[in-house]
Amino acid sequence: MSRQLFAVNDLSKRFGGLQAVRGVTFEVQPNEIVGLIGPNGAGKTTVVRLIMGLMRPDAGRVVFRGEDITGDPTWRRVVRGITGTFQNSRPMKRLPLIANVMVALYNPRVARQGEWVKTVEARALDALEFVGLSDLALSPASELSQGDLKRLEIARAIATGPDLLVLDEPFAGLNQVETRLLATSVRRLRKGGRFGRLHTEGCAMLIVEHKLSELMRIADRILVMHFGELLADGPPEEVVNDPRVVEVYTGRTQGQATQETT
Ligand SMILES: Nc1ncnc2c1ncn2[C@@H]1O[C@H](COP(=O)(O)OP(=O)(O)O)[C@@H](O)[C@H]1O
Ligand SMILES: [Mg+2]
Repeated sequence: MSRQLFAVNDLSKRFGGLQAVRGVTFEVQPNEIVGLIGPNGAGKTTVVRLIMGLMRPDAGRVVFRGEDITGDPTWRRVVRGITGTFQNSRPMKRLPLIANVMVALYNPRVARQGEWVKTVEARALDALEFVGLSDLALSPASELSQGDLKRLEIARAIATGPDLLVLDEPFAGLNQVETRLLATSVRRLRKGGRFGRLHTEGCAMLIVEHKLSELMRIADRILVMHFGELLADGPPEEVVNDPRVVEVYTGRTQGQATQETT
């Protein structure tokens, strides 16, 4: 048996005359952090939506723990252990943060873990504490800054105890301080372990990012998309020095792929 946790095989998606995703294939191993980069319009978000079951591929398969989940609705994927955050946060603004997180816990994945009704509130608090937002647990989500909203999204996702967490541009629109706070949460997730009632051991991540700098520091592997196709797949140092990647991603000639992004 291979260690493979997750894979997409030959995934394709067309919107009218536009081939947004074409024959994309990659794997994610348990506990691995994979970055997905590429210029705007490359097809990254479409891949995320196909992985989360928010749309169906025209061709190809999504495989989790060896099972074909291509036809699964989103909720079933969450129950299996895949959860994600969106490029644009959409919290329930009038509700306090704790309620925003608790909603995610009303699913069979969490209920299966026992003592659910008694622990759901504490577990939501653990998730907020994990991302550094527990002080605001009772504040309405409408009061949050952009950076706090991103962290709320992560709290909501990790509360379900995922095995694969998919983050679509978690750092977009954040200032430096917010970026650092969020990066700390991601690194803490990566480290894994027990945190209150949460177990973050072995959680793999697929992180879509436009900016390279943060990703370079966290990712084990980087995938590069360009015009719907997978252009490169390898360790960060290798990928940023790949002449094709340098050319399409930075629009420059080889040599300096990482510098400008830090
Ligand atoms: N629902 C949709 N309907 C039509 N075109 C879409 C839709 N979603 C994305 N596209 C198009 O598909 C291409 C890839 O988009 P997207 O996956 O959002 O790219 P990225 O996230 O890499 O910026 C873009 O040209 C975009 O305009
Ligand atoms: Mg996108």
